Amino acid sequence: MKLYAAADICKGIYMQKQKMNIVIAGHVDHGKSTVIGRLLADTQTLPEGKLESLKEMCERNSKPFEYAFLIDALKDEQAQGITIDAARVFFKTSKRDYIIIDAPGHIEFLKNMVTGASRAEAALLVIDAKEGVRENSRRHGYMLSMLGITQIAVLVNKMDLVDYDETVFKNIVAEYSEFLNEIKITPSAFIPVSGMDGDNIASLSDKTEWYKGDTVLEVLDNFKKEKALSDKPFRMPVQDVYKFTKFGDDRRIMVGTVETGSVSIGDTVIFYPSGKKSKIKSFESFNTSPIKNASAGYASGFTLDEQIYVTRGEVAVKKEEQRPEVTSRIRANIFWLGKKPMVKKKEYFLKTGTAKVSARIEKVVRVIDASNLQSSENKQQIERHDVAECILNLGKAIAFDTSENISQTSRFVIIDDYEICGGGIIRQGLSDKQSDARDQILLRNYKWDKSIISTVERAERYNQKSALIVITGEEDTGKKPLARKLEENLFREGKFVYFLGIGNVLYGVDADIRDSDERSEHIRRLAEIAHILLDTGMILIITAKSLTQEDLELIKMSVNPDDILSVWVGDKITTDLECDMHISGNDTTEESCNRIKGILQESGVIFKPW
Ligand code: GTP
Ligand code: MG
Repeated sequence: MKLYAAADICKGIYMQKQKMNIVIAGHVDHGKSTVIGRLLADTQTLPEGKLESLKEMCERNSKPFEYAFLIDALKDEQAQGITIDAARVFFKTSKRDYIIIDAPGHIEFLKNMVTGASRAEAALLVIDAKEGVRENSRRHGYMLSMLGITQIAVLVNKMDLVDYDETVFKNIVAEYSEFLNEIKITPSAFIPVSGMDGDNIASLSDKTEWYKGDTVLEVLDNFKKEKALSDKPFRMPVQDVYKFTKFGDDRRIMVGTVETGSVSIGDTVIFYPSGKKSKIKSFESFNTSPIKNASAGYASGFTLDEQIYVTRGEVAVKKEEQRPEVTSRIRANIFWLGKKPMVKKKEYFLKTGTAKVSARIEKVVRVIDASNLQSSENKQQIERHDVAECILNLGKAIAFDTSENISQTSRFVIIDDYEICGGGIIRQGLSDKQSDARDQILLRNYKWDKSIISTVERAERYNQKSALIVITGEEDTGKKPLARKLEENLFREGKFVYFLGIGNVLYGVDADIRDSDERSEHIRRLAEIAHILLDTGMILIITAKSLTQEDLELIKMSVNPDDILSVWVGDKITTDLECDMHISGNDTTEESCNRIKGILQESGVIFKPW
């Protein structure tokens, strides 16, 4: 009985064996694949007889055997003798299971190296003892540091080709240490090895008696696990919002993959950039038993206590944890892989998490040649394989963390013509035009005390949903008469409705700001009033002169965009406003009123008469 329990415990421990992702990088042909092949052979990870049969096959074809063949699964890769894609290989030591990503060393495949490295927790960097430090030895080192991988061991390989000479080893150690020092990386170890002969890979070699350090396997086992992703603050980029379509069921499921941290039923979550908050009511799981929480790495879907308007691209965060940054201006480090250089004025797309926004370079602060660390401050574009520090202007504010805080949610890729052309990390969020207003709204949402009476109860009482009708256009186009008529019409039909003329705000709430330059502050206050009145369940009508898209965006920050109906009155739309409805000057007030009511009925704000 006891024995049985012990076996179970052992099984349990085995199940929980640690996993670690390692990337192997370095200049082309310096022996990365060979070292991995050796690791596989020396840790007895290979199926029995595999090594022998491969050696036999090589002999039959009068082809010299290569350890790299063990992992070179791709056919054309064997033909060309270079690693084309990043291959994933598994092996284990008594301490943990390793997933080792074999990245190609050729410059053309830098993108594969970066993709492979973006999942790694530590790296082995291979340098050919005979060739010495080459440009991709440095470039790869730099990329690793940019991706936040700071645990690096350097293998000085092919020691057999230099007669295991300590001086050759020491010179490479000195040269590469200086480089790593400049990019602020302290390597865990420098190890003289021969991938071909297996020296110092799994056991210390008597050909390098002068070497007193650890073997490659020991160094790997000494790498520390990164702070578990689930211990970091909770971040889940919203991938989709599923709505139930059944009548009366307005539940929505927020779906996404948890990047870091964990979340449980009952937790209050805030969605950024909007700052909307609600409590997690349930997790929806398909084909599995019900779950009560979700943590890093898991795809999850949850419903909320109260229906709030959230869209793809927002990031869910736990209320009591550190909040992400929200802005449309960032300082970032970018590495460029596109064939054409990255230039100012051109519009690109930036993707981080599930958010995709347009992006333009505002300023190239400095460009660094990652192969020699030479930086130039007056370059105005980023050439292929260059790394640059720059300031980017985004089409819309996004939520992110800086690389210092949570590297997972600081990473982004740049897309041009549907293709990934670069990537990088966000170093800092900078203030943009709407920063002040946004900060105020985020704080207001954070502090907002919800009424006991729910939105649904109010809607039932008033027989309507709350909505904001914004009527805008040039001067003297009949905005105000229309607004008054609409108010009266809806009121006579028993609706809870109010028309708020801008004048009633200007001389009251806005009495302390007279300057017409303070337009955005006027708009912000108007939107704040609208936000309060909409919370009461009211249909609010406001008029304002010649609103622009930026004004509307500002209002949308305060008021749920789903609840806004924007109407332009006048023959020609003279601003960049993308309105929901255009009423030309020829329509009578009565006709216009009916058209607006039609839209309100269609969107379910008011019900169609029986
Ligand atoms: P890419 O994937 O193309 O970047 O190359 P790689 O770094 O994976 O190099 P690979 O392991 O394919 O080795 C390149 C060549 O160097 C092969 O011919 C190997 O046999 C040889 N080689 C690798 N390690 C050693 C070594 O320790 N000693 C000697 N003499 N040759 C080696
Ligand atoms: Mg290779």
